[in-house]
Amino acid sequence: MKTVARKLRRDGRSIGFVPTMGALHEGHLSLIRRAQQMADTVIVSIFVNPIQFGPSEDFEVYPRDLARDAELIANKGVDYLFAPNIDEMYPEDFVTYVATEGLDKRLCGSSRPGHFRGVTTIVNKLFNVIAPDYAFFGQKDAQQTIIIRRMVRDLCMDTEVVVCPTVRESDGLALSSRNQYLSPEERQAARVLSRSLQLCRQLYQEGERQVSKLITAIRELIEKEPLARIDYVAIADVDSLEFLVELDEEDPALVALAVFVGTTRLIDNLILKPETES
Ligand code: PAF
Repeated sequence: MKTVARKLRRDGRSIGFVPTMGALHEGHLSLIRRAQQMADTVIVSIFVNPIQFGPSEDFEVYPRDLARDAELIANKGVDYLFAPNIDEMYPEDFVTYVATEGLDKRLCGSSRPGHFRGVTTIVNKLFNVIAPDYAFFGQKDAQQTIIIRRMVRDLCMDTEVVVCPTVRESDGLALSSRNQYLSPEERQAARVLSRSLQLCRQLYQEGERQVSKLITAIRELIEKEPLARIDYVAIADVDSLEFLVELDEEDPALVALAVFVGTTRLIDNLILKPETES
């Protein structure tokens, strides 16, 4: 892939890169469409990255169907698929990691130690192989996008990070490869994540600026759902990820949550902006 990417660059073709772990869904396809609009050539990677999973997480059972994914992206006109194997990415004596210190311990990082170090390490390696002009990530993984942007800035990488909106089911559930784990009852219960964010947005639009009140409203709604168990609910600065106490009229704020529905941990988020909320 390195040789292909090098030749593309020599030929003056810009590269749009969509890193994924496979089990592709409409969220990934929206990233691919955006990449096709912005770049001459689109490369998608599929690699279930072992080092971003904790020991008791779902690495072994994470949904994998490379043949189906490859066919899907070929039909969508993706130019290249990069699907390395684990030994290629992590030789036995691999010892080098990339970490965004501090940021990687906050929010999801406190429940998933080592997760973001795994993400930044693999994204760095993939960027080194492909050297993309643009790389595309979904807003659903808000903390991941903030961390990758910071890594790109801190390490002077020559890639523009493009964040695309979360794609949702018609009832609001954010698309995720992990939604496949949900039973029909859990799938219904999972609506509580986006419903609680909508409630937060409504309270914000009505003028509520106290973080504790917004968080309480979110928590109370989720706690009414018997199949849901809150991992965390937080409102944080969109750059530093530090917790906020009161929202001001100038700066956007990230409302982020992680909730177990049954045994499946789902995440979702919302950016509150003073004038135009998204
Ligand atoms: O968002 C994901 O699917 C993964 O975290 C990524 C960016 C492909 C790195 O493994």
